[in-house]
Amino acid sequence: MQAADQRPDKALARRSFEHAAAGYDEVAVLQQEVAQRLLQRLDLMKLQPRRVLDLGCGTGQCIPGLMSRYRAADVVALDIAMPMLSRARRRGRWLRKPRCVCADAERLPFADACFDLVFSNLMLQWCTDLERVFAELQRVLHPGGLLLFTSFGPDTLGELRDSWAQVDGYNHVNAFEDMHDVGDALLKARFAAPVMDVERITVTYPDVWRLMRELKHIGAHNVTAGRPRGLTGKRHMQGLVQAYERFRRDGVLPASYEIVNGHAWGTETSDTVSLSIDQLRRV
Ligand SMILES: C[S@@+](CC[C@H](N)C(=O)[O-])C[C@H]1O[C@@H](n2cnc3c(N)ncnc32)[C@H](O)[C@@H]1O
Repeated sequence: MQAADQRPDKALARRSFEHAAAGYDEVAVLQQEVAQRLLQRLDLMKLQPRRVLDLGCGTGQCIPGLMSRYRAADVVALDIAMPMLSRARRRGRWLRKPRCVCADAERLPFADACFDLVFSNLMLQWCTDLERVFAELQRVLHPGGLLLFTSFGPDTLGELRDSWAQVDGYNHVNAFEDMHDVGDALLKARFAAPVMDVERITVTYPDVWRLMRELKHIGAHNVTAGRPRGLTGKRHMQGLVQAYERFRRDGVLPASYEIVNGHAWGTETSDTVSLSIDQLRRV
């Protein structure tokens, strides 16, 4: 599990995504690719959900894919950043609109067992307390319902992390949970049959400035509690540019992403035990 200073600062992450909403779709190329791959995984599952939750829906890029797969389902789009949700509400010309809810994944405003499918693309890594999110998802999932998600793993942006380490001792890159820790958190929340795997995707950039700009426009720049405060000086940035050049291959700079894929099934979580009157007499 992450150290306290490596956990995301939730208020900062929310503000960062609020600011990013307007330009998100233009730069979220990796997020779109991962979303399509995650949606395709649904085609391998036999499901007929009545209620679907898109957790951390952003601008709603996954909603058409969810609605077209489950035409009879009621789709709920949830995000902590209101400007993201406003875009999700307006997106496309869908036959039916999603119900949009602005809330924190760690405190879901829903009744117990009200969803048959929770879908979440590249959102969980921004949560401060993953165990709490999974406990909430277990609560709102119907027993036998499916949780399907992606998140970033610790090798994500490894080149950027290594390059900053040459420059100073601060956390400049968000820390991400290992696949095994995510699986353990699922088991702790009493999910059944968790399945985890990782995929690696490399995106290339002409220079570090372009990478840094895109991370900022997506809202995914450093939001860890232990981040350096104040502006990053020119000398530091020059140090970063120089250190990152070690990774240049074929004229471009790579940025690696480790995509953690997971799915698991909701279980009966009630602590109520039913006993017959004869069983009680024997106690
Ligand atoms: C990288 S974007 C992914 C958006 C969308 N799932 C997609 O595939 O494009 C992460 C989203 O998670 C939202 N988010 C971050 N922390 C959250 C939290 N604690 N509760 C709900 N949403 C959150 C952000 O506002 C942002 O819209």
